[in-house]
Amino acid sequence: STNITSVENTVTDQMRMARNGHRGGVLWFTGLSGAGKSTLAVELERRLFQKGYQVYVPDGDNLRGGLNANLGFSPEDRAENIRRVGEVAALFARAGFVVLTAFISPYRTDRERAREAVGNDQFHEIYASATLDFCQDRDPKDLYSRARTGEIPYFIGISAPYEAPEACAIEVNIDKLDVPESMEKLV
Ligand code: ADX
Repeated sequence: STNITSVENTVTDQMRMARNGHRGGVLWFTGLSGAGKSTLAVELERRLFQKGYQVYVPDGDNLRGGLNANLGFSPEDRAENIRRVGEVAALFARAGFVVLTAFISPYRTDRERAREAVGNDQFHEIYASATLDFCQDRDPKDLYSRARTGEIPYFIGISAPYEAPEACAIEVNIDKLDVPESMEKLV
C-alpha cells in the first residue's frame, strides 16, 4: 500500500507493562502434529493466568475456520498461515499479552518471519519434540493413518518435511516428560 501514515499510540508499552506487571511477548510452540503443542500451550495458559498474567492461546483450528479460512496445507498456504499468525501474535504482544501459539509451523523461514514481526527479544521458540513414531502411535486425530494412504496430502512427517528449530529457547521432550514435568520446565 502507498500513502500510509502510522498512528502513534499515547498508551505506551511502559504503561501497559506497569499495569500488567509484565511485558508482552510470544511463546511460539512448534512441533509435529500430535506432539502435544496445544496441550502444553493450553495448560501453560491456565497456569500463567492463575499467576495473574495477561495470557492467550489463539486456537489454530478456529483461525483456520476464520481469519485463515481461505488457506490449505500447501507450502505456500502454510507460509501465509504462519505469516498471518505471526502478525496477529505481534499485535497481541504489543497490546501487552503473553501469547502462546501452537502451530506445526514446519518451516524455519516462516518461523523466522514471525520472529521478525514480533521482535527478537519478545519471541521465544519452544520446540515440542517427539519422534515421528511417537506421534504416529498416538495419532489422536487419526490423521497419520490417512496421510499414509495418501488420503491427506502434504502431511508433515509423512509427505512433507518438518524443519526442527536450530536454536530454540526451550525444548520439551514430549516422549520423555509428562505434562506436569513439562510445566515445571516452562512456567
Ligand atoms: S501449519 O503447518 O500451517 O502450522 P497448523 O498447525 O495450522 O499447520 O494445522 C495443523 C493441523 O491441521 C493438524 O494438527 C491437523 O489437525 C490438521 N491438518 C489437516 N491437514 C493437514 C496436513 N496436510 N498436514 C498437517 N496437518 C493437517
